Amino acid sequence: MAEKLAIAGGTPILQRSDYKNWPVITDDDRKFVNEVLDSGIVAGGTAPQVVALEKEWAEFTGAKHCLTTCSGTAALHMGLAAIDVGPGDEVLVPSYTFLATASCIIHQMAIPVFVDIDLKTYTMDPTKIEAAITERTKAIMPVHIQGCPADMGPIMEIAKKHNLHVIEDACQAHGAMYKGQMCGTIGIVGAFSLNNLKNLCGGEGGLFVTNDEDVVKKGDLVRYFGDECDEKTLRQKYNSSILGYMYRNQELPAALARGQLKHLNELNDTRIRNSEYLSRELGKIPGVIPPACPTDCKHVYWFYAVRFDPQAAGIDADPRRFRIAVEKALAKEGVLVGQWQVMPTLAQDVFQSMLGVGDRYPWAINEAKGITYKYDVNDFPVAQAYCDSYTNVHSIHPPNGLELNEKVVAGFQKVFGNLGEVMDHADDDVKPGFDGALYGVG
Ligand SMILES: Cc1ncc(COP(=O)(O)O)c(C=O)c1O
Repeated sequence: MAEKLAIAGGTPILQRSDYKNWPVITDDDRKFVNEVLDSGIVAGGTAPQVVALEKEWAEFTGAKHCLTTCSGTAALHMGLAAIDVGPGDEVLVPSYTFLATASCIIHQMAIPVFVDIDLKTYTMDPTKIEAAITERTKAIMPVHIQGCPADMGPIMEIAKKHNLHVIEDACQAHGAMYKGQMCGTIGIVGAFSLNNLKNLCGGEGGLFVTNDEDVVKKGDLVRYFGDECDEKTLRQKYNSSILGYMYRNQELPAALARGQLKHLNELNDTRIRNSEYLSRELGKIPGVIPPACPTDCKHVYWFYAVRFDPQAAGIDADPRRFRIAVEKALAKEGVLVGQWQVMPTLAQDVFQSMLGVGDRYPWAINEAKGITYKYDVNDFPVAQAYCDSYTNVHSIHPPNGLELNEKVVAGFQKVFGNLGEVMDHADDDVKPGFDGALYGVG
């Protein structure tokens, strides 16, 4: 007889205590952080930890230049400003990503134009890019979502053909590789986030990389008020030459990121091992679709997302209801699952209302010329199908290993072995998800 589901009063397979929290703190982190405390130097564009992190990240990625920033969003915005994206320009972004990929375009008074995703990799679908290009398009911003490399080969070809820049949102993809090249170093700018959740964690922060001398110079100005430094004394001139922001990082987050960087490869290896194990085992369950890793690529599994297909599972329910019912049953088994972004990015109110800055800016710039914009979710069926059917499985981050993931698989097997009962409890008041401590949030 099938084991009774926890959602029906049975015993859960897992406890929260089976899960270990991210990030993994080592003596390297303590050493660098203590260096900051002992030095008394806590900030500054040429302070030792930020400078060392810039050098070490440039070495790790193979990029010529790296600038530390206060966030991944700042690094993306600096990229747009450094390549002269401006008012009324259009920038292509995937229909499923984190808000900041698209909102930083608005910060530059430019207009995000969405391109639907590929359902296997969840990244921008290159076959849909050209239809979105207009005479106003200035750049393409692919996202290496959840650590999966976007299909950079065709994206770079299209960009070259239409004379566009490519800014890579690699905020979730530290160490990911696309056909032998490090993600973030293929386009003119790559942006990485160092927030608490990320494969490379500084608590908060970001990294901007480029091989272009002019772009790094302009990015550096944008990073710090547009104010130039005296080349000899390295002192600030207090004379801003262009519009800039305060996007610097600080010594403590940089020190932590340096300690983490020493272990990035081994930590990524653990993520890959856990994820490949889950894909192998969960892929055997009808109705569970594991994430794809594109050929000749290294996926670094920031998050691990599976999709559910009710038909393949033999259940007559719409995908959204089925996904929610399965999530609830898994949550009651103690399996930490749940969605990250819950809708295609363009469905968020900030795009639907197009309030933007002032009265409908940046859209009003081009609307005055008779160009119309609408963000209609129906135009992005793949992102919608993905959002209806996916959940993240929160057991792949180190130091968790196969022991935990074997139990996670057992939880899935139990739930998928009792789908009739799972659907009977589809409306139960259960809230899947995780507590902040799992990813270092207080
Ligand atoms: C895809 C993506 N882009 C941009 C960002 C922004 O990074 P940050 O939070 O460091 O500003 C994030 C962060 O979650 C992200 O996941």
